[in-house]
Amino acid sequence: MPSFTETAAQIAHEAGSLLRYYFERRVAFELKSAYDLVTEADKASEKLVVERLTQHFPDHGIVAEEGGGHDSPSEYRWYVDPLDGTTNFAHSYPVWNVTLALEKAGELIAGVVFDPNRDELFTAERGAGAFLNGRRIHVSAASRIKDSLLCTGFPNHNRTTSPNIRYFHELQMSAHGVRRSGSAAIDLANTACGRLDGFWEIGLSPWDMAAGILLIEEAGGVCTDMNGAPHHLKSPHIVADNRLIHDELLQALAAVKRGEIQHPMPAV
Ligand code: IPD
Ligand code: CA
Ligand code: CA
Repeated sequence: MPSFTETAAQIAHEAGSLLRYYFERRVAFELKSAYDLVTEADKASEKLVVERLTQHFPDHGIVAEEGGGHDSPSEYRWYVDPLDGTTNFAHSYPVWNVTLALEKAGELIAGVVFDPNRDELFTAERGAGAFLNGRRIHVSAASRIKDSLLCTGFPNHNRTTSPNIRYFHELQMSAHGVRRSGSAAIDLANTACGRLDGFWEIGLSPWDMAAGILLIEEAGGVCTDMNGAPHHLKSPHIVADNRLIHDELLQALAAVKRGEIQHPMPAV
């Protein structure tokens, strides 16, 4: 019998092909709220993923971003982001993915992120490691922010109240750079495989992060909230990295929060 991760990977591949079909034809978007986009591809992918999960695991609960999931008394619950990076997708910018993860009694036990544009499948299973296209992955070895490539993201909803540009500016001045891809699951996967040394974001949803958190933990990294408290899927913010830069990154973020800015923004 295939493992949960193998079944999730098979479903992600199928959804990824469907998303590519829509991507090649370009799709119109609708607004869920100001600047928060959704397309028919998000909905079609979610329908497919939920149908497949329900066929394989009829008693499991499913939390899916576009609302197609269902509750269950089961201790198993899937988190599904049928298209992570919708804004990129809607603009034909090829940075997006499909991601799903499984929680058992509150603990993440399996997760996948599939990026059809690069044909990259990231998989993780609790206690068994993290993999990219079947090869074991590990977080990076950078031990200082000044030697690091970092990454963050900005929320689509409530974006006028997000303070993240302040953290972005300060870290951009301290690190090799801060990337902003528009796809949180890819950012977390790229941190798990050492392409990035650390990631933070405010206001992500459980389906954005679930698989990525397990990937990072299984690749030797760590995820907490911005206060250094253990991360859980409802945490309002996340700091995820290779463990070696974690304390320094938390301190740098805390300093910005206290208004202790080392690199004031230049005047225009
Ligand atoms: C978004 C992406 C983005 C992050 C946003 C998310 P969506 O997910 O992950 O990187 O910054 O907060 O909402 O809406 O494209 O699935
Ligand atoms: Ca998402
Ligand atoms: Ca989405």
